[in-house]
Amino acid sequence: PRPHYTLPSGDKIPSVALGVWQASKGEVGQAVKAALAAGYRHIDDAWAYGNEKEVGDAIKESGIPREDIFITSKLWNSFHAPEDIEASLDESLSRLQISYLDLYLIHWPIAFKKEPYEKERKIVVDVALTENPYPTWKKLEELVDKGKIRNIGVSNFNVWRYENLTSNPLKYRPAVNQVELSFGNPQPELLAWAKLKGVLLEAYSPLGSSRQVKETLELPIIKKVAKDLGLTPAQVIISWHVQRGVVVLPKSVHENRIQENFKIVALPQEQFNLIERAAVSKPPQRVVNPSKGWGLDYDIFA
Ligand code: A2P
Repeated sequence: PRPHYTLPSGDKIPSVALGVWQASKGEVGQAVKAALAAGYRHIDDAWAYGNEKEVGDAIKESGIPREDIFITSKLWNSFHAPEDIEASLDESLSRLQISYLDLYLIHWPIAFKKEPYEKERKIVVDVALTENPYPTWKKLEELVDKGKIRNIGVSNFNVWRYENLTSNPLKYRPAVNQVELSFGNPQPELLAWAKLKGVLLEAYSPLGSSRQVKETLELPIIKKVAKDLGLTPAQVIISWHVQRGVVVLPKSVHENRIQENFKIVALPQEQFNLIERAAVSKPPQRVVNPSKGWGLDYDIFA
């Protein structure tokens, strides 16, 4: 299987990363160390996960040269205003204890007003910056030129939101779009669109997250393919993702699972087709959708 993809900048992005969303304090550092020891060279973090300091400590303590590791973080919704971005990026860099990020994503296509969110966690949508994320993007391009970020991208953008951003004159087009992709939510239309447009997708919650992982790994078809190929169900799912042409970000805080998730194979076409058909043939179940929680009167993904 493909060990990495090449981004528009020419940088290589390893196809499997350790995801650290919901990896809590006190366990995320050990997870990062276990991943680096197992051969992972790609960590997917975010300002909002609240664990950048511990992740940074673990990277440092691993002794692996910083430039050998691909490190992603994400700009939180309350910092989309151009004047707020650099300070938030600097906070991520200082917590991670590095001088540049390999990839920095706009975490969500929704901008919150900073003050009410910071003062009382009150969500007030900045409608102008949400409808037009171009000023945010221009500032990110500036920070690339300043050397603080090597690649910029987006996350949770549906097609029209992506095209709304990229219809502007861009100096750097989004290197990736990180979205939910799993057996339960395989998004075949989004994937087909991405292939057509040359947009690299990254799969978060690739195993179905804590909510769906158990039922996914116990599906008879997944168990059967795993048995036939001498793999574990998780390895089958992660291999399937890579074969679909996306970056995969499985999260685990357990050393044995972290090692397991890194051993992927090229699935025979027949088995790949079986899984693909089974995944797309039933109604999708999305795990992550904060639209209601954020008080929006629309669905972010619609
Ligand atoms: P844990 O961190 O306790 O290992 P996703 O990557 O889709 O978000 O899924 C992460 C969920 O799947 C977490 O609950 C994680 O739990 C669990 N998980 C990760 N890898 C495996 C695995 N190889 N086998 C079983 N469960 C796993």
